[in-house]
Amino acid sequence: MESEGNTVGRDAPLDMGADEFREAGHALVDQLANFLATASARPVGPDLTPPQARSLLGDETLPQGGTEAGELLARTTELLADHSLFNRHPKFFGYITSSAAPVGALGDLLAAVMNPNMGAWLLSPMASEIEAQTVRWIAELLRYPTDCGGLLVSGGNMANFVGFLAARRAAADWDIREQGLRAGKPMTVYCSAGTHTWIQKAADLFGLGTDAVRWITTDGDLRMDVDALRAAIATDRAEGHQPLLVVGTAGTVSTGTVDPLREIAAVCQEEDIWFHVDGAYGALAAVLDDAPEELHALALADSVAVDPHKWLYAPIEAGCALVRDPKHLLDAFSFQPEYYLFGSGEDRPVNYHELGLQNSRGFRALKVWLGLQVAGHDGYAQMIRDDIELARRLFQLVEAHPEFEARTCELSITTFRYVPLDGSLTGDALNDFNQALLEELQADGRCYPSNAIVDGDFLLRTCVVNFRTQTSDIDELPELIASTARELLQRTE
Ligand SMILES: Cc1ncc(COP(=O)(O)O)c(C=O)c1O
Repeated sequence: MESEGNTVGRDAPLDMGADEFREAGHALVDQLANFLATASARPVGPDLTPPQARSLLGDETLPQGGTEAGELLARTTELLADHSLFNRHPKFFGYITSSAAPVGALGDLLAAVMNPNMGAWLLSPMASEIEAQTVRWIAELLRYPTDCGGLLVSGGNMANFVGFLAARRAAADWDIREQGLRAGKPMTVYCSAGTHTWIQKAADLFGLGTDAVRWITTDGDLRMDVDALRAAIATDRAEGHQPLLVVGTAGTVSTGTVDPLREIAAVCQEEDIWFHVDGAYGALAAVLDDAPEELHALALADSVAVDPHKWLYAPIEAGCALVRDPKHLLDAFSFQPEYYLFGSGEDRPVNYHELGLQNSRGFRALKVWLGLQVAGHDGYAQMIRDDIELARRLFQLVEAHPEFEARTCELSITTFRYVPLDGSLTGDALNDFNQALLEELQADGRCYPSNAIVDGDFLLRTCVVNFRTQTSDIDELPELIASTARELLQRTE
């Protein structure tokens, strides 16, 4: 195509002048500030089906022309505010999804405007140093060696994958990156029965197959049975397998249980097996001096996964992988193609595309780095301590309540179930009733628990990773749930 004269004097439809940006941005921030001030008074979530959500959006085809950004942002904010599930709500207790720090949201805006590509230092000089400092500070909170390697990733799954892949490379005494798994013995991995499903994805995606996962039984406290671990390793070695890694979980997804990390570390050391800790949720409680003792053994791990978008209250997405010896990350991930001239030799700066799975990368570290400074070490310790205290308070309340059976309370997760006073429901019927109760509560919008299955029992499960939850929210919960259960019982009788 020939260009005539000044036809590319560009008035690009996506660009915004400074005034337009300022006006749209100020209006958006005003609208969001109002939302933040009033969100607690809204229902936790909408009672909305997928078809209803789709019909609200409409099924128009892609607009041919453009729309003015300010007006579009205002409408979109309203749409989302009216039809979202709010993990920032003080009575949101589902899964392990935290309330996001407002400074993190502003950090995401700042990161997007600067838009560094965090794949290489040259493309993100100051931002890469901020990421490195963030990794060090997270290690400090965990009492993990601060000269470890590490990087920010999208969340717990990806952080665990990084540890898994670093272990896989380190365990192979052949060139696994060139020859793949076929050149060695079949590899096996070990984890407790309470381990999050990331391990299945990792075993599947990274070539071992899910039948390489040895689900080690747990003791009466749901912690990995270390004798069973030893026995499984011995059996596998005798049968010609190569044990690749043992996963200890610091805060299981269902009950917040912390595995016996010290004992597992000792087994790994004796057996020369990589020790990985999935601390996506619970590792950050190591900031407390009086944390469960096992959390102070994190430093013994070869790698740790931890999620700033859980107990550092960063907006989603933010996970972090730490590897004790930085060399293992480079060994597992680095390629240096000829078209990337990002430095060489001893002085090569940290280029994050060489340390993980991504190539181009966003500036996830910024929101975490800002949060760490706004709250500081002591601020985080206080918020995490308060969350744990609220979970314990709830446990005591349901324990004292005649219609509840309190089951577990670890870190900030409490589990319990509703048991009708007349003893009319037992076994499967009691499980079905508690499941129906959970669905009722989630649709109702006044509080949002999720569930756990413990010893075959369907339990209601609350997790407090929310600096907006207060004592009154917890105190109101038992009666709120019990009254919903009574109504449900009446309706189903
Ligand atoms: C212990 C544990 N590991 C891993 C994950 C996965 O984290 P993400 O959802 O951030 O990928 C979770 C999520 O709740 C978790 O609790």
